[in-house]
Amino acid sequence: MSTVMSTPTLEIRPSDHAASAEERTKRMTHPGFGRVFTDHMVVVPYTEGHGWGQGVLKAYGPIEMDPASSVLHYGQAIFEGFKAYKQRDGGIACFRPEANARRFNTSAARLAMPELPEALFLEAATALIRQDQAWVPGAVGESLYMRPLMIATEAALGVRASNEYLFLLMASPSGAYFPAGVKPVTVWISDDYVRAAPGGTGFAKCAGNYAASLVAQRQAKGEGCDQVVWLDAVHRKYIEEMGGMNIFFVYQENGETVVVTPELTGTLLPGITRDSLLLLAREQGWRAEERRISVEEWRTDIQEGRMTEVFACGTAAVITPVGHVKSRQGDWTIRDGETGPVAAKLREILLNLQHGVSPDTHGWMKKIV
Ligand code: PLP
Ligand code: COI
Repeated sequence: MSTVMSTPTLEIRPSDHAASAEERTKRMTHPGFGRVFTDHMVVVPYTEGHGWGQGVLKAYGPIEMDPASSVLHYGQAIFEGFKAYKQRDGGIACFRPEANARRFNTSAARLAMPELPEALFLEAATALIRQDQAWVPGAVGESLYMRPLMIATEAALGVRASNEYLFLLMASPSGAYFPAGVKPVTVWISDDYVRAAPGGTGFAKCAGNYAASLVAQRQAKGEGCDQVVWLDAVHRKYIEEMGGMNIFFVYQENGETVVVTPELTGTLLPGITRDSLLLLAREQGWRAEERRISVEEWRTDIQEGRMTEVFACGTAAVITPVGHVKSRQGDWTIRDGETGPVAAKLREILLNLQHGVSPDTHGWMKKIV
C-alpha cells in the first residue's frame, strides 16, 4: 500500500502503479515533445463561494467529466508551460515559474476564471517535480516540461462563467519541440487568418487561441512551410508572432548589433523567453528594441543586408532560427537559410543559465531539488 502524506494544502498520494526504472528509461529515450507523461499529476478543484479546495498529487490518469461541463461547450480553458532542468550540480531547477504563475492569472482574469494563488501554483510544481524527479532528463536541450491547465467543469449549458473549475498540472519529459531539432524553419506569412484582434484574447494563453490557429498552420504546411507568421488584425501588415512563439529580428547597424521584437500591444502573448532575451541581449552590449515592424520592412531590410538574422523564441523550442519566408507578396531567404551567430549565442546563454552551467545573476532559477 502506498503511504499518504500531506503538506499544508496538497495531499500527496503516490501512485501504486508507477513505471519501473526500465520502463521509464524506455519512455524517456527520444521523448519528442509532449507525448510522454510522468507517473503523477496534481488536481485542485474550485467552487464559487468556497474557493480552491483540497489539492491532491496522485497517479497520472484520465479525469472524469460531465458531458455538460462548460469547457467542452464554451471553451473556458487556459494553460501554461515552463520547464524543470537538470542542473550541472545534479539538482533540479525551474526557469522563472513565478512569471508563469502570474501569466496564468492574467489569462484567468481574461477568461472570467478564478485566479490561482501563486503559492499554490508553485507548491504544485515543486511537489510534482520532487515526486517525479527521476523523469527529469539530463541532456542539455532536454527538460521536464510542466503543463498547468485550468478548465471549467460546471455541468451547465447557459452561456456564463462556470461556477466550478479544475486546476491540473502534468509533467512531460521533453526533447526538441520541432522534429528537425534546431534547424532553421520556413515560415508562411498568413494573410487569410488573424490570430488575435484588439480587445480579444491574444495576450492570454487560452485554448481557443490555439484552436483558431490550426487552420492557418495547416495552410502554412500546404505552402511547404513549417510555421505560420501572424500579422496584426487592423493594418494586416505588422508582424506579431510566429506560431506559438515570439519573434526577433537582428540588425547590424554601423557595427552595432540591434535586436528588435514586436512591441506588446495586447494581441501578442508576452513571452517569458522574449522578456528574458531582451535583457540578455542588452547584457551582451547589444541594443534591444520593442517596436512595430512590417512585412515590407522585413523584406527590404533583408534584401538591403541590414537585417542579418530572424529567430523565434518560446519555452518549448527555446530559440528557433527562421531561414526562409514565403508569402503572397513573395519569398525571401535569410542568411542562406543558416543559423546566425546572435541566435546561436542567445540560445547558448539561455541554455547555460537554465542548466545551471552559468551563474543565475537574475534570480530566475527556482531550485526544486
Ligand atoms: N507566443 C505564443 C502564442 C505562445 O503560445 C508562447 C508559448 O508559451 C509564446 C509566444 C512564448 O512564450 P514563453 O516564452 O513564455 O514560452
Ligand atoms: C512554447 O512554449 O513556446 C509554446 O508555444 C507552447 C506550445 C506547445 C503551446
